[in-house]
Amino acid sequence: MTTDNKTGLWQTLRLHQQSIANSRLQDLFSGDEHRVADFSIQVDSLLVDYSKNSVTRETIGLLLELAKVVDIPGKIAELQAGKVVNTSENRPALHTALRRPGALPLVIAGTDISALVQQELARMQKLVEQLHSQTLTGSTGKPIQKIVNIGIGGSDLGPRLVTDALYEYKSPALDVDFVANLDAHDLFRVLNNSNPHTSLFIVTSKSFSTLETQTNALSARRWLIENGCRDIDKHFIAVSSNRKAVMEFGISADRIFAMWDWVGGRYSVWSAVGLPVAIALGMDRFLEFLGGAHAMDNHFRNTPLVGNIPVILGLLDVWYNNFCAAETRAVVPYDQRLRLLPDYLSQLVMESNGKRVTDEGQALAIHSTPVVWGSIGTNAQHAFFQMLHQGTRLVPVEFLLPLGSVYGENHHKLVANCLAQGKALMLGQANTQEPHRHFPGNRPSTTLAYENLTPKVLGMLLAMYEHRTYVQAKIWGINPFDQWGVELGKTLANEIIDEFEGKQDIHPDHDPSTKRLIEHFLKNQTKR
Ligand code: F6P
Repeated sequence: MTTDNKTGLWQTLRLHQQSIANSRLQDLFSGDEHRVADFSIQVDSLLVDYSKNSVTRETIGLLLELAKVVDIPGKIAELQAGKVVNTSENRPALHTALRRPGALPLVIAGTDISALVQQELARMQKLVEQLHSQTLTGSTGKPIQKIVNIGIGGSDLGPRLVTDALYEYKSPALDVDFVANLDAHDLFRVLNNSNPHTSLFIVTSKSFSTLETQTNALSARRWLIENGCRDIDKHFIAVSSNRKAVMEFGISADRIFAMWDWVGGRYSVWSAVGLPVAIALGMDRFLEFLGGAHAMDNHFRNTPLVGNIPVILGLLDVWYNNFCAAETRAVVPYDQRLRLLPDYLSQLVMESNGKRVTDEGQALAIHSTPVVWGSIGTNAQHAFFQMLHQGTRLVPVEFLLPLGSVYGENHHKLVANCLAQGKALMLGQANTQEPHRHFPGNRPSTTLAYENLTPKVLGMLLAMYEHRTYVQAKIWGINPFDQWGVELGKTLANEIIDEFEGKQDIHPDHDPSTKRLIEHFLKNQTKR
């Protein structure tokens, strides 16, 4: 904590938590007939019910006070105006500019960022049209039918999630797939089911130096050449900010889409990184997705703190993390289409806020992000819900609940299960005779209900998660837009790769365990 005000408020919140620690959630309802209405926020078709959380009106008041003390409204304005919020890399974080309507210029250091974005969207549109009209051909003249995105982390998780979630809107003529892992089983799973003559690889890599992506792109290039597709430029597109490296790889300038240094990888699905989405669903759907995110950006910027979804949910995250000792939080979509959301959120939240020093480089005296994990309902009920109901740890749960379904069939049963779980977590069930059948209850949950999972709703949801992550970071005083913690492992892996490839002798200074495992691998490696 950096200021006296914050420190004082932190202490007040601690004492307040102790004073309500023994309250039962259901009692908070009985004493307050307006609790549900006042602890719910609706924006368009998105309803957030946070009334089943272990908070009183006083808790919310104190948390809002904390938001004011750290000047959350000012921080939101700074973010969206393009101030340098990524201090360790001296950059703005302008993901919100990627979804601004074209008519709204945003001039940063003399450049109209909105115009750049629109230019790139127009290029995406052209490519999408060529693919949909089957006029884009490979090196042997056959129309492209299969698109494979090669990328990892933010260059994979966002477009993979959105394409998967909105598959109902997908054009049947084109097949879109994703390869991320360095494990060749990932690439060859896709290549073994693809025709090189009709395949197009989108290499998505901001740096164009990421080991996994480089390795997979080189393997794909070799596979194309070995299968008679010699003019490889016709089979590749790149999305990158490193144009030089892309061209050295053999992809020509007009096949490179921009990734700007003012957009972080995990915040980039709104840019040309979303090309697989636009190709699979069509450009109009992609623009609807951007529109949903823009609506959430406006809500975040213009709505008073008390009715502001990312602010309230970010503050609740801080509450459980810093005052209730929760070490994790679970996200459980009762929506099969959001099966990849927990993976996406674990990168968005933990790569952003898994930090140990403040913006000023001071060691944090408080915890930063908890673990974010989850899976879809109802599957999760038959997996980890036992722990949520009867385990010893506090795990705040977040339910995502579509009110409608494309198929309609059985949907009421799915909804009933989601509602039942929230109720069971909160109320529990006493059993004094058989302790193993006792449900202690008093376990908090939040429900995010939406009419249906349209591109717009998904855009709103993902932008909400981005902003909520930003709110947490500002309360903790950390930079959510860098990720230096991934560097050491990358460097050490490259050293060991050089040793495996005989380019370096085995380093005598490896710790004994790593040395033994290196020797064990070299001695026992097998192909299968
Ligand atoms: O290793 C972390 C990371 O830098 C992520 O932040 C990023 O999304 C991913 O790697 C991929 O990076 P790139 O787009 O440069 O290949």
